[in-house]
Amino acid sequence: MIAEYNSIELFAGAGGLALGLEMAGFTTMALVEKDEYCCQTLRVNKKKYFPIAKIFETPIEDITPEEVLKKLKLSKEDIVLIAGGPPCQGFSIAKTSKGGRHLDDPRNNMFFQFAKFLEYIKPRSFLMENVPGITNMEKGFVLRRVLETFEGLGYKLRWKILNSADYGVPQLRRRFFIIGYSDNGPITFPQPTHSPYKTNLLGLPPYRTIGETFAELTPDMPNQEMPRHTEAKIKRLAKIKPGSAWQSWRFRDTLDVPSRTITGHCRDDWVHPTEDRGGTVRELAALQSFPHDFIFKGPIMAMNFVKFQFQYRQVGNAVPVLLAKALGETIITRLRGRIVEVGSEIRSGSGKAT
Ligand SMILES: C[S@@+](CC[C@H](N)C(=O)[O-])C[C@H]1O[C@@H](n2cnc3c(N)ncnc32)[C@H](O)[C@@H]1O
Repeated sequence: MIAEYNSIELFAGAGGLALGLEMAGFTTMALVEKDEYCCQTLRVNKKKYFPIAKIFETPIEDITPEEVLKKLKLSKEDIVLIAGGPPCQGFSIAKTSKGGRHLDDPRNNMFFQFAKFLEYIKPRSFLMENVPGITNMEKGFVLRRVLETFEGLGYKLRWKILNSADYGVPQLRRRFFIIGYSDNGPITFPQPTHSPYKTNLLGLPPYRTIGETFAELTPDMPNQEMPRHTEAKIKRLAKIKPGSAWQSWRFRDTLDVPSRTITGHCRDDWVHPTEDRGGTVRELAALQSFPHDFIFKGPIMAMNFVKFQFQYRQVGNAVPVLLAKALGETIITRLRGRIVEVGSEIRSGSGKAT
């Protein structure tokens, strides 16, 4: 059976973005991801969380959108959304002989791989995620090229940096998003559902905290293996007061606030508020708003220079599930032909790159 709001997820990672979009009402038909451990994670959670999806374990440059559709037995019109976060290290800018600049070889550039799928399938909508720093990479040149490329494919778009805590994620993680549609209707971003202030005019609940989130966890949940540290490291961690940082990169929050950003290095840079240790994969996944029974596979930990996606990295690289869900709800409401919320652009930095 072909569902109505089918999506394709590129650079799927552990599936944070795809899961939020599923929760919003999209049906993930394909998850494209090259890392074997991310794919193990996607497979073990597939039955419950991505029941229809086919997992394509392949570098995206080795597969065409045509092949994906053929394997799915779908036509272009069956897909209404393409989503994904192309890794931004792919953006390499070269100077031309005439003094201008261009993005390096498109085949090596993951952004162009994303564009390749859009160009062929031409879904009614797309969602692209990235780090906030993309807005000033190469003095805005990268973002301009990205926006121009999408516009050249016929999309109307807006971009915005969102704070995950505004959507019920217990984390102050800011992420950049572009939403694009193939038609001329309104383009809005989701309204915050939570507020930094306990008392606020809209009557929103306050930001979720680390303490509230951890109160839901039990030791028998998956991925709760305690991180092991040397005695020397435990002593170093003990010296970091809750609410402070060590050498500007290792952070320890208090329980009554949302967490600072969970990074790909969260096994090293995140310290438990009340115990002298790092977080478990489960704890950090909960701060990324993954459901508590979502399982992470692959090596738990590895050195930061390795290329593969170990569990802590899978968690740190993900789009928080509830943030993805809020974005998905806005997009699906719009695709269903309803006008979405008013006033969502108040804090927006959206529009064209300057
Ligand atoms: C930032 S993570 C994606 C996180 C994901 N959106 C989530 O919410 O969980 C980027 C992913 O792109 C994958 N990736 C990088 N280069 C790729 C390529 N050439 N083909 C397919 N996947 C690739 C990486 O393995 C990584 O898992």
